[in-house]
Amino acid sequence: MTDVPFRTIIEPFRIHSVEPMRLTTRAERTEALAAAGYNLFELRAEYVLIDLLTDSGTGAMSAEQWAGIQRGSEAYAGAPSFYRFREAVTGLFPFRYVLPVHQGRAAEKILFTAAAGPGRVIPNNTHFDTTRANIEFTGAQAVDLPIPEGLQPALRHPFKGNMDVGALERLLTARADAVPLVMLTITNNSGGGQPVSLANIRAVREVCDRFGKPLFLDACRFAENAWFIRTREPGYADVLVTGIVREMAALADGMTMSAKKDPLANIGGWLALDDDSLAERCRNLEILTEGFPTYGGLAGRDLEAIAQGLRECTDHDYLHYRVRSVAYLGEALESAGIPVVVPFGGHAVFIDARAMLAHLDPLHYPGQALACALYDEGGVRASEIGTVMFGLHPDGTEAPAAMDLVRLAIPRRTYTQSHIDYVIEVVTRVASRAAELPGMRIVSQPRQLRHFTARFAPLR
Ligand code: F0G
Repeated sequence: MTDVPFRTIIEPFRIHSVEPMRLTTRAERTEALAAAGYNLFELRAEYVLIDLLTDSGTGAMSAEQWAGIQRGSEAYAGAPSFYRFREAVTGLFPFRYVLPVHQGRAAEKILFTAAAGPGRVIPNNTHFDTTRANIEFTGAQAVDLPIPEGLQPALRHPFKGNMDVGALERLLTARADAVPLVMLTITNNSGGGQPVSLANIRAVREVCDRFGKPLFLDACRFAENAWFIRTREPGYADVLVTGIVREMAALADGMTMSAKKDPLANIGGWLALDDDSLAERCRNLEILTEGFPTYGGLAGRDLEAIAQGLRECTDHDYLHYRVRSVAYLGEALESAGIPVVVPFGGHAVFIDARAMLAHLDPLHYPGQALACALYDEGGVRASEIGTVMFGLHPDGTEAPAAMDLVRLAIPRRTYTQSHIDYVIEVVTRVASRAAELPGMRIVSQPRQLRHFTARFAPLR
């Protein structure tokens, strides 16, 4: 890292390949939005100017990653690319078994098919949507146990992603037999991209040990989480991020992973674990749905891109820029008086839509209303993380989610500061007429993961 104290944190890369963007008129956007049933997942991406729908698989790969793509070996079994991939994974997460999969939810599907099932309960700080859905699909119950601070958007806490250890202990005391494993999501995506401290992981581990339960990390954003530990947790300011990651891994028995996040790949993931018999069951399931365990639904070249991305994402200059550039957006919105989740997370800025659109009942989906307005105003696509995503329960009942947030997820190494300045302008303009924004009603929806395909109409 540079030792000169310049104020401007620059993108630590040069751009050597570009993807043109298409400007749209407001009339085009209004029409596209209506045709999409006010569901931003249904928009064609070329009608989006700045796409902050997700940081998943949307990052720019480096020259070295593209070089790896050329090196990819496509042998069905035992390809050298697999061994390079496994070495990169175990260099950070030294689990005995590493099963590549096509993306994170495939790891979840395999793990929960093997370990969950009717009557079982899986606790987590906060389950992501696919994690919850995969658990519920097996008939098990997904339980969120965030610390109370994690549910108050305006409250500052350095590790708002932490799990409520007391609540975990109470759950295990009451229902230990029903709990096959405990999960921790780092960073806590649905809770605002907030980090989990090493002290918290250690405390959760200690409770797991007392009840004889394995601990699994949902480690999608492990490098951002480790950077927050380095910059916020006492005793870690001089520890390398790679060392912090290994310390996190040493406290766990396994992990599910999406390589589309911190590992800077466009596709891929893995399930890693230590337990022999669980690994055998998972491997058999993998062969059934993903492929032979040395490629797991990926091309050999994808494994190379992940291996190289894993090296790049723990670089301190990169992480400094990454976390700082997300905070740049957050600070600008905060100083414009927009209610945002603080402190800012690692991959996204979350707007508190319930506070910003306080005139709307949560069951009129303030997050969806705001996300639609951002697109209509300036072609910025964000995602609702609130009652649309989490409000419909397996028994068919509906209730407001804990929070109604709109997430502005920042793809890695993709947008520049002027893109972000534009986003700030769009959000600020929408905020100035927030009180006029109409709520939404659902016209049609599926029973699970409704946010992807539901259709809405504005309440006039
Ligand atoms: N766990 C977390 C914490 C996630 O954020 C995601 C994906 C997954 C698991 C599933 O991984 O997409 O590779 O199957 N999150 C993306 C997002 C989709 O937009 O936050 P996947």
